[in-house]
Amino acid sequence: MNRATHLFFMGKGGVGKSTSAALFSTFLAQKGYRVMLVSLDPAHNQSDIFERTLSDEPVEVAPRLRVSEIDEDSWIRAYLKDVRRQINRTYSYLTAFNLDKYFSVIKHSPGLEEYALILAYEHLQNKYSDWDYLVFDMPPTALSLKFFALPSLSLVWVNHLLTLRQEIIEKRELITKIKLLKKEFERDKVLNKIQEQRKQYETMREAFTNPEKTQVYLVLNPDKLSHAESLRIFHSLKEMGIRLYRTIYNKRPANESCADIDPVFADIPSLNFPLSDTPLIGTEQLQRYLQANEREVQRHLNIC
Ligand SMILES: Nc1ncnc2c1ncn2[C@@H]1O[C@H](COP(=O)(O)OP(=O)(O)O)[C@@H](O)[C@H]1O
Ligand SMILES: [Mg+2]
Repeated sequence: MNRATHLFFMGKGGVGKSTSAALFSTFLAQKGYRVMLVSLDPAHNQSDIFERTLSDEPVEVAPRLRVSEIDEDSWIRAYLKDVRRQINRTYSYLTAFNLDKYFSVIKHSPGLEEYALILAYEHLQNKYSDWDYLVFDMPPTALSLKFFALPSLSLVWVNHLLTLRQEIIEKRELITKIKLLKKEFERDKVLNKIQEQRKQYETMREAFTNPEKTQVYLVLNPDKLSHAESLRIFHSLKEMGIRLYRTIYNKRPANESCADIDPVFADIPSLNFPLSDTPLIGTEQLQRYLQANEREVQRHLNIC
């Protein structure tokens, strides 16, 4: 059973995604939950925040809290290797062809980054499905949006492929004049593989649009550019059926009024994180900041 709740921290560069993700993860772990904090941003920050050398392999930085930074290149390699294995297995008659030539082309194809991220995400959500929280420190907006869009987009072509494959099987049946039994339809390796893929993408799309499972925190600062980008994130996610779970107004100067906040965000519960006068680096500093802002975090997490 997959019981972990997934928290995603998004926002413009520099607004405090990594810091907020680290703060929430530290808080949840302090409250007794098992938390896996994962940086999906190729420009990793968590090792600087926790002052530890981090990698793909999770490191325990505090009781119940592990942190990892995914190695995008190795996930791209893993993705390509997987594609190659699938081709070899599914189209065994193709082994006479030179697959290397084909791979030298697809390794430069656009979209590999988001496939790598989705593969890493899928791996993590399966591996840590019995943990309480998986917290994702997200990459820059464009890549994050592609990440969330990937299951729906892939479903478009997977569904087309499915129709095509069914047509091929029917034509084959016609040509050979041998009536294929329904069983043989089901046994078609390619068809099975496409159906399997469709299931995976559907499950992911459902998870992304289920607020019990996927909670997107949008971090923004009191400045125009971060607001503008936040609006784009809000609308793009909405088109995909993903609602923002919370907004975090970070680095907020004391006594600042709410007048500059866009009315679009009015219905979304928001947290205020004040500008800290000390750098939020190291678990001690994070804990100190959390103590000062405990009530703000607590009332949004619905935990005691
Ligand atoms: N509430 C805050 N008060 C003071 N400094 C902050 C706060 N939140 C983040 N910062 C600082 O702002 C910078 C950018 O934060 P970071 O979390 O790395 O942003 P992002 O991950 O969105 O690029 C860092 O130097 C971080 O320490
Ligand atoms: Mg960051």
